[in-house]
Amino acid sequence: MDTAEIKQRLKRASHIVVVTGAGVSAESGIPTFRGPDGLWKHYRAEELATPQAFAKNPELVWEWYCWRRGIISKAKPNPGHVAIAELESRYNDFLLVTQNVDGLHRKAGSNKLVEIHGCIWQARCVKCNAIEQDNELDYRNIGPCSRCGGRKRPNVVWFGEPIPPTRLNSAFSAAESCDLMIVAGTSGIVQPAASLPFIAKKAGAYIIEVNVDTTPISAIADLFLKGKCGDVLPGLYS
Ligand code: APR
Repeated sequence: MDTAEIKQRLKRASHIVVVTGAGVSAESGIPTFRGPDGLWKHYRAEELATPQAFAKNPELVWEWYCWRRGIISKAKPNPGHVAIAELESRYNDFLLVTQNVDGLHRKAGSNKLVEIHGCIWQARCVKCNAIEQDNELDYRNIGPCSRCGGRKRPNVVWFGEPIPPTRLNSAFSAAESCDLMIVAGTSGIVQPAASLPFIAKKAGAYIIEVNVDTTPISAIADLFLKGKCGDVLPGLYS
């Protein structure tokens, strides 16, 4: 299908959902999780991104998240993020569901978004659940909860934890009612985000996948656009 047809397809659509993963932030210099130099190559997820790991060694977990914050704090949104924010402005019925916690979609101007795995720039009290903005880059300066003095944890969803129902419901209902879904920069293996394209497909949506590699989603994608998000996404509407 040539780009003119893709643009036509986008023009005809009226309910758009975009699902993104770490690949959309790769060109901003943020390592992905499972790519050739992915984060999980250097760390075992179980040792860092689980409630058990935090209970066992909160300093180690905070050290890893503050290290990631350091990388993210130097990162800028790339043309892929900007393109998604531009797409949002062209449709009334639009939702971005991102698995990323880096906050770059918001920085690029996306407003209609669900950060299903939370946000690295927030901390949550394990005692009273208060959520605070937290931009600390040095884990040794992470203080207690300002409300109750309890220990704070990164306000992100860890392996084995449920995604808050409000976020999940908005993502699933949008997938069930969209007529076009763009899936960009995700390996499509972590649930429940990995189910969204299958739900949309079943509901009759047209699925466009943007990735440098094929994924389990490629089998059901109506259109697989091989390439970097920063190169491919701006071409979808310009
Ligand atoms: N453009 C498009 N796709 C890219 C690019 C790029 N520039 N760079 C990498 N990719 C693709 C890779 O081919 C891969 O399919 O992005 C995907 C990144 O996959 P993962 O590293 O598995 O990231 P993601 O899919 O977001 O992981 C989901 O797993 O560890 C958890 O919570 C973490 O949110 C994360 C979730």
